[in-house]
Amino acid sequence: MASAQKIGVIGGDGTGPEVAAEGVKVLQAVAKLENIKFELTALDWGGDRYLKTGAALPEDGINQLRRFDAILLGAVGHPDVAPGILERKLLLDVRFGLDQYINLRPVKLFPGVETPLKDKGPADIDFIVVRENTEDLYCGAGGFMHKGTPHEVATQMAIYTRRGCERCIRYAFELTRKRNNPKGKKLTLVAKTNVLTIGHDLWWRTFKDVAEEYPDVQTDYNHVDACCMWIVKNPEFYDVIVTTNMFGDIITDLSGIIQGGMGVAAGGNINPEPGGTSMFEPMGGSAPKYTGTGKINPIAAINAVSMMLDQLGEPKAAARVMKAIMQVTGTKMKSQAAGKMGYTTSQVGDLVCEAL
Ligand code: IPM
Ligand code: MN
Repeated sequence: MASAQKIGVIGGDGTGPEVAAEGVKVLQAVAKLENIKFELTALDWGGDRYLKTGAALPEDGINQLRRFDAILLGAVGHPDVAPGILERKLLLDVRFGLDQYINLRPVKLFPGVETPLKDKGPADIDFIVVRENTEDLYCGAGGFMHKGTPHEVATQMAIYTRRGCERCIRYAFELTRKRNNPKGKKLTLVAKTNVLTIGHDLWWRTFKDVAEEYPDVQTDYNHVDACCMWIVKNPEFYDVIVTTNMFGDIITDLSGIIQGGMGVAAGGNINPEPGGTSMFEPMGGSAPKYTGTGKINPIAAINAVSMMLDQLGEPKAAARVMKAIMQVTGTKMKSQAAGKMGYTTSQVGDLVCEAL
């Protein structure tokens, strides 16, 4: 029998632990049905730990995480910790430390879920964003001169490497091929080549070079500002989008809202290399005001579990969870908004387990 897959669960802050618990519930239920073995380890890392010890994760935290086959993260963000600290110390340090160079964000409108886009339905909203996850403005390079004076200077650099954009672009081409969209396999590069004529020239040339290896994939290019218009006007244009870290951050929130909002949207921070450890998260944040109220929507966390199963090489279990989610959103839940679901957080988790 195959050995157990090791999963680290970081509940994190606010409602993070509550939604992660529902994800774990569904993971355990599908594991039983599909005869997969998981060994779960809970890690109490996050804002509370930071307030007590001054560190969000232990000193050897990144090395501890390396031993896992995958990580499920609830949420990061504590009302008593200044913004930016936990984001960098937990989320970004893990992404960088484990070289999770892909941020994968499926944008799929589930049945029964409301979209703010008029006249658009599940057949129109079904694409996936491949966001580069280790470079660009997120690298932390830059600094201040004369800080706090009228002559203050601040620099914040975007760094792009050929290796960094090439591995991301190649992943996106492979994914487009694998998705095999019946409407046609199409990969759209989103950047700003008309202004960022250095960094995004590197992206553009790399995209063209890699495209030659994938003649079966149709390619397209959008400037990021135009892409924001098209996502709203014609989301059905898209199959797979590949983009830089900062632009990807922005367009995936825009995309998240057209798929029903943060109660639904999930993402994967992926290290696709053999032995790489990936981390999956609902996109909703820690929503402190809902902590402990049973109002928060766990669908996003369960969606993250489906993505995790796929990455762990369990596509059948992943599809089973996805189908169960769609049954619950399509036939049971009143809304995807916190407090308006018609069920509590844990009842939604139970419904998905029943639907499995
Ligand atoms: C996301 C988040 C993070 C990001 C923040 C919390 C650092 O917005 O995962 O999209 O900007 O990547
Ligand atoms: Mn974001």
